[in-house]
Amino acid sequence: MTAIYTRAELRNFLEAEKAQSRQIGLVPTMGALHQGHLSLVEKAIQENDRVIVSIFVNPTQFNNQDDLDTYPQNLEADLDLLKPFLPKVVVFAPSIEEMYTDRVKAENYDLGGLDHVMEGAHRKGHFEGVATIVETLLRTTSPDRAYFGEKDYQQLLIIKKLIRDKGLDVTICHCPIVREPNGLAMSSRNSRLPKRLRERAGIIFNTLQSAKKQFGTKSVTNIEEWVEEVFRNEPDFELEYFSISDANTLIPVDQKHINKEYRAFIAVYAGDTRLIDNLALN
Ligand code: PAJ
Repeated sequence: MTAIYTRAELRNFLEAEKAQSRQIGLVPTMGALHQGHLSLVEKAIQENDRVIVSIFVNPTQFNNQDDLDTYPQNLEADLDLLKPFLPKVVVFAPSIEEMYTDRVKAENYDLGGLDHVMEGAHRKGHFEGVATIVETLLRTTSPDRAYFGEKDYQQLLIIKKLIRDKGLDVTICHCPIVREPNGLAMSSRNSRLPKRLRERAGIIFNTLQSAKKQFGTKSVTNIEEWVEEVFRNEPDFELEYFSISDANTLIPVDQKHINKEYRAFIAVYAGDTRLIDNLALN
């Protein structure tokens, strides 16, 4: 299976596709593909005639050089995983120069405060890097639909805002979180976990599920204290944040309201590897 490596080549390919009224889906990824990514590809294939899967480890969204240096990359393995989806899937695997020319820098965005909490608060500049590359990919591809996972729920809300603010004509589709058998949300970074930690990391999802059970009867403060206590007793894991927030504004809740949707969000270090997860509470 081959890939397209330049924006010019991708534009030419898509022009011919669109001339035949083909519907185009875009699945942006950073590669090291797993079943979570493939669930997006499968949905995109059902809903479009052609699906562009972009594979690009975007340097401007990494706030930690070490994380970027150790991010798993294996284009050959990714192409193999996508082979069963031929000929509907086309891979776009550009270089850094191709996406950024000579200025590897994020643009400035007003993300309306959605970027001030959780991942945005702990990873400075992360979402401006994400917005920059997603906007470039959308403008290069002009897809009918673009697919994102609820695994990165905050990212999903930020991309929806970006599309509204920039007036981009694309439908954003989202897919539920795909999990390993122990409940650990699938992530490219899971491959960096030693086997024992990977097995034990099911505690993250178990904690979210218990928080959900408690949400009906206990106060948010009580639940937060309980989660902190769980991780104080787990020497293998370090809790970075746990937050129960409004599912649309991401503002942390203090008082529950009947008609609002809430979600629990968590970030945990397992050794050097940072893992995130979230769960709808109502
Ligand atoms: P990446 O982490 O590779 O994820 C690509 C897409 O797959 C994202 O929309 C993400 O939410 C989704 N995804 C990852 N793990 C998932 C899982 N377990 N279940 C369901 N969906 C999952 O997110 C990025 O890349 C980048 O920030 C990107 C949007 C490509 C911009 O660089």
